[in-house]
Amino acid sequence: MSKESKVLSRRNVLKTLGAVGAYSITASGLTHASTQINATNDVNFPKIPAGLSPELLAQDESFWAKVAQLYDKAQGIVNLEHGYWGKMSLPVQSSFIEATKMVNTQLSFYARKSYNKDTEKSTIKVAEALGAQAEEIVLTRNATESVHNLIRQYKDLGENDTVLFTDIDYPSFKETMQWLASSRNQKAVEVVLPAQANQQQIIDLYTQAFDKHPNLKLMLLTHVSNQHGLVLPVKKIAKIAKQRGIDVICDCAQSWGLLNFKITDLGVDWAGFNLHKWIGSPVGVGALYMKKGSLEKISPYPGEHDANNTNASTRVHTATTNFASILTIPAAINFHQSIGPANKEARLRHLRSLWTSEAKNMPHIEVLGGLDEESSTGMCSFRLQGKTSLDDAKHLQKRLENQFGVFTVLRKGLASGCCIRITPQIFISATEVQQLVKAMKALA
Ligand SMILES: Cc1ncc(COP(=O)(O)O)c(C=O)c1O
Repeated sequence: MSKESKVLSRRNVLKTLGAVGAYSITASGLTHASTQINATNDVNFPKIPAGLSPELLAQDESFWAKVAQLYDKAQGIVNLEHGYWGKMSLPVQSSFIEATKMVNTQLSFYARKSYNKDTEKSTIKVAEALGAQAEEIVLTRNATESVHNLIRQYKDLGENDTVLFTDIDYPSFKETMQWLASSRNQKAVEVVLPAQANQQQIIDLYTQAFDKHPNLKLMLLTHVSNQHGLVLPVKKIAKIAKQRGIDVICDCAQSWGLLNFKITDLGVDWAGFNLHKWIGSPVGVGALYMKKGSLEKISPYPGEHDANNTNASTRVHTATTNFASILTIPAAINFHQSIGPANKEARLRHLRSLWTSEAKNMPHIEVLGGLDEESSTGMCSFRLQGKTSLDDAKHLQKRLENQFGVFTVLRKGLASGCCIRITPQIFISATEVQQLVKAMKALA
């Protein structure tokens, strides 16, 4: 966890909002009131006590209660399913509404003349936040678009080559990897990871798979699993893979913002990201990362031309998109950085530990995912001991919702069976997590 700015100050949030007024409309008379942001007055921004570590701040309920006031929260249910997509904070939502109004007012006059310049600004913002260069980032609609394009357009699969994925990978990406292998008459192998694992066990299992399949050419590597939040040692696995000539496509859909990291911490050439999960952008924003000099093996999107194979943007064909979502990227990143990526990660870890530490003393509960802190994050899963079928998980999800007022989601991709995923957000309180703990105890 790097030492990030821990300052959630009024000044920073004003900066967040200020990003909205920065559209590139140049013609005089067109920048009217609807493009100006003015949503600052009724929001109270909490101050972080000086010298407090992210881990100590994570336990400060009064601080996080103030942060929660910066979000609209549904009443009547404890929602512990925030792995689907994130929530915009109120300042980001204001930015999005203003951007929507502006685009809807200016229409093609804005889009034809100025949108490209604003897309560039948003791209630079994403690149800076990830520690990448702007030309290494392409904005997409979601991580699926980013990763599907990488898999589909991978062109280096030859005779007797094998592709690899694991049971903890995202279901749609496993299928796309399988499709890639079948469509080129090559072999795909699925490696099974244990229901709970630590970093060394994961490295050992990947290494064994590399030994067992010497013709491996391409692998999918997920930073944080959507099944149970297991964190994979991406940099170490990618290094071993590189030494053996195996290309890596990294799925960071769930990790960016849930964990605090830069692209160089991963050591991969290609990765897909979401901003609409933990960065808190509007829905419909993802990113594709392609390291400079790594484009050779990924074809341009069909019909796109890139004579020198050096232009990452030719790997995606976006067409008409939600202009306002793209325009809101700087505001979302500014807000995320104002809270502090390290503070967010620590708060989410703390909320997870509130229930996993209790669950460890419940013999009827099996916790899945990371065996240690390094392999874990805020997202985690559980099931009733021995209850691994889809029906078991459906029944448990319904009981949690209807009997205990706790909303969760079932996951069914693991080889070990189905489970219930628990994903708090930073605006979830310790008291709400206790409602889950009470429910888990009552499930005995
Ligand atoms: C690990 C992982 N990969 C990929 C995806 C796909 O994300 P999206 O639907 O935003 O493209 C998700 C979504 O939950 C995910 O958790």
